[in-house]
Amino acid sequence: MPARLSRKDEDALVAIALRARDRAYAPYSHFLVGAALRCDDGSVIEGCNVENASYGLCVCAERNAVGSAVVAGRRAFDAIAIATSSEPPSPPCGMCRQVLAEHADDLAIVLVNTKGARVRTTLRKIFPGTFTPAQLRSGQRSTSSKGRG
Ligand code: THU
Repeated sequence: MPARLSRKDEDALVAIALRARDRAYAPYSHFLVGAALRCDDGSVIEGCNVENASYGLCVCAERNAVGSAVVAGRRAFDAIAIATSSEPPSPPCGMCRQVLAEHADDLAIVLVNTKGARVRTTLRKIFPGTFTPAQLRSGQRSTSSKGRG
């Protein structure tokens, strides 16, 4: 079950995501994204998208938040707010869904936009069939094995 966010906690997370969005570095797409990731100890880590003149190096807000959280010693998350100005509010891209799934069995997700619209969903709902660390382990060949597969 994803964490249940109280209205007060959701409002706080949304405010942090909107503030992080203001710091996005998006001179190429002009699509600003902010993320607020709630860790299992209750702390909140921010992220924004950071673009680059070499377009392929652009990093999404959600993945920057995950990276910052890991650097800060947090590896388990229970909720995320993602702020954009799109209508309706944008969901995380596929790459970010996979990265979030590595650190959360399920995640409460609040998508918001700058006009105040909110969409509530969960990671499991928008990202079924996740490739998990357990699947990786179960398919890893031992280094001493010579056979195929
Ligand atoms: N972007 C995010 O930050 N998160 C997503 O989940 C989707 C896309 C960013 C990447 C790029 O800087 C801009 O939005 C346009 O794709």
